Amino acid sequence: MAIGTLNYEPQVFNPVQEAAPLTPLQEEILELKRQRNAVILAHNYQIEPIQRIADYLGDSLGLAYEAANADADVILFCGVHFMAETAKIVNPQRTVILPDAEAGCSLSDSCPPEKLKAYQDANPGLYTVAYINCSAAVKALADVIVTSGNAVKIVEQIPEDREILFVPDQNLGAWVSRQTGRKMRLWPGSCYAHVLFTTRAIEKVRGEFPDAPVVAHPECTQAVRDLADEVCSTEKMVQFCKNTPAERIIVVTETGMIHRLQREIPHKTFIAGPTDTCACNNCRYMKMNTLEKVRDALLKLEPSIEMDEDLRQRAELPIRRMLEWSKR
Ligand code: 13P
Ligand code: SF4
Repeated sequence: MAIGTLNYEPQVFNPVQEAAPLTPLQEEILELKRQRNAVILAHNYQIEPIQRIADYLGDSLGLAYEAANADADVILFCGVHFMAETAKIVNPQRTVILPDAEAGCSLSDSCPPEKLKAYQDANPGLYTVAYINCSAAVKALADVIVTSGNAVKIVEQIPEDREILFVPDQNLGAWVSRQTGRKMRLWPGSCYAHVLFTTRAIEKVRGEFPDAPVVAHPECTQAVRDLADEVCSTEKMVQFCKNTPAERIIVVTETGMIHRLQREIPHKTFIAGPTDTCACNNCRYMKMNTLEKVRDALLKLEPSIEMDEDLRQRAELPIRRMLEWSKR
């Protein structure tokens, strides 16, 4: 049945039976990985065949810890550029490669470092909190980094007398502000994919699955977040979906997330959060990575992340602060 005036069928991921065997290309990658002494870190939004061969699959926070602790010679990072860059910042002695150097992020692009520097210069004394979805140059200008998984906890530790500037995601910032009661100046950036979710589309799909709770990412707009039963990072979505007694869940984030949920919670049904024009929502950057590019990156050890050492050290400071505060 079509969803009201929205002209598409909901995308329903039914319980899965058994995982398909690995393909020859996936086996080839695993062999190359052994030869290179590499570790494959992948974000929850990667395509399913990449998720299957990852040593670690997770959200930005888990990936940052894994990257910092990796002792393999090579870190192959299947995600977007700022994530691989973060891995290099915290583990500079490793070779860090990514399948496609063009896999960027609209949120990261929305905060050019020179604009942030100009704003900070014009407004001295602000405490700059940068969401990890930003460039190394922006991280170097921040006092502390946060991810969606720890932003509330980190902001709660900032001295009360400091005024906060939150960059670059206004939606995550507004959510953290509400959770913590801390007033913040919000940089006007956003994730092009998460703002495509609308209340109209979510209300329609909820009308079709009235027993299914809605779990949404904090990068969604406030109107969409207000409709959700739970707002959290992609890693916490796994816990939410495991713990809820509901058998069907509407997942309002990038659709790749559902592959992980299906693998870890095979008996439940997941419904992809729809937009006004589509039953699912794929991040065009996350989906630039393919198995062929993964294989080629391991063969050539490129594209690799290279960084000026002075910049790296300045960017490392607020990341280390986050990793430390996150454990408290
Ligand atoms: P998570 O850290 O929650 O996985 O989010 C990363 C991201 O890029 C969301 O768009
Ligand atoms: Fe960036 Fe949005 Fe893609 Fe996440 S989903 S990588 S925030 S563009």
